[in-house]
Amino acid sequence: MASSTAAAAVSCLSTPPVTIERSIPRGRLLFRGSHAGGSRPLRLNSARRRGLSPAPRAAKAVEAAAKAGPLNVMIAGAPASGKGTQCELIKAKYGLVHISAGDLLRAEIAAGSQNGKQAKEFMEKGQLVPDEIVVNMVKERLLQSDAQEKGWLLDGYPRSNSQAMALETLGIRPDIFILLDVPDELLVERVVGRRLDPVTGKIYHLKYSPPENEEIASRLTQRFDDTEEKVKLRLQTHYQNIESLESIYEDVIVKVKGDTTVDDVFAEINKLLTSSFDKKTEMVAST
Ligand code: AP5
Repeated sequence: MASSTAAAAVSCLSTPPVTIERSIPRGRLLFRGSHAGGSRPLRLNSARRRGLSPAPRAAKAVEAAAKAGPLNVMIAGAPASGKGTQCELIKAKYGLVHISAGDLLRAEIAAGSQNGKQAKEFMEKGQLVPDEIVVNMVKERLLQSDAQEKGWLLDGYPRSNSQAMALETLGIRPDIFILLDVPDELLVERVVGRRLDPVTGKIYHLKYSPPENEEIASRLTQRFDDTEEKVKLRLQTHYQNIESLESIYEDVIVKVKGDTTVDDVFAEINKLLTSSFDKKTEMVAST
């Protein structure tokens, strides 16, 4: 387990950047992974404080990163605030396992399962699907080995006090809780213009991220709950629940402005994730 955790940490470090390039601040080492040519800076301050020369310092930093384990991230926000869009970018850069409660529920609906049938009734009303269905479904996915080894990115979960408490009981907490903040008036436009590619799973928007060609455009689908009427109900549900999550995760929550371009939102998230991973590594290195 220790070696797989180490491998996961290194793989997290060596995943190539998607769009964001950044300079390497002084006092950091550029660590190059064994594949894909990716790079990621590590802080070496604690090793430097112990007076180690460069090679042992580098070894200590890699060891600390491996011991710290991968990042665990929660992302929340109103409907259409951009969670899914940002998760695609985070997953590509950090190699985390993306677990979306909404996607898991839609998979149950597509499979025609009893849970899926029940879930759809609530989703059509813009309400939360009952915990009896959601809590175990997400927990089982979260505890699978890939999520434990590579780190997880929980999208749209937990969404209520009871769901957060179910995770707390299992001792599951994120390193960072990102809350996307988008004004309500933008959300309706984003919802009604959203389209999905059933072949690649990619999220499009007719105005903001249009499909690349006619072939893709012709196969795009729309979600059954992406209407103006339903998004208003989903929004109400979001506001009824978000405060309790803000208080449960107050030590790790960060609000990110989600009304700029997709790349600008990701640039901000990328900075936060890098800093969160650095802090985690540094804590281990200093013990
Ligand atoms: P879920 O599928 O999670 O829906 P949601 O929370 O309403 O969020 P969305 O998927 O609608 O939006 P998003 O934030 O991912 O935005 P996206 O990136 O696609 O949940 C659906 C339902 O399932 C719930 O209503 C509930 O019933 C049930 N459910 C889910 N989780 C549950 C739980 N934990 N417990 C109980 N029930 C649960 O972006 C939206 C659009 O905007 C796209 O077209 C995109 O291209 C565009 N866009 C994104 N970012 C930008 C940007 N920066 N600028 C311009 N356009 C952008």
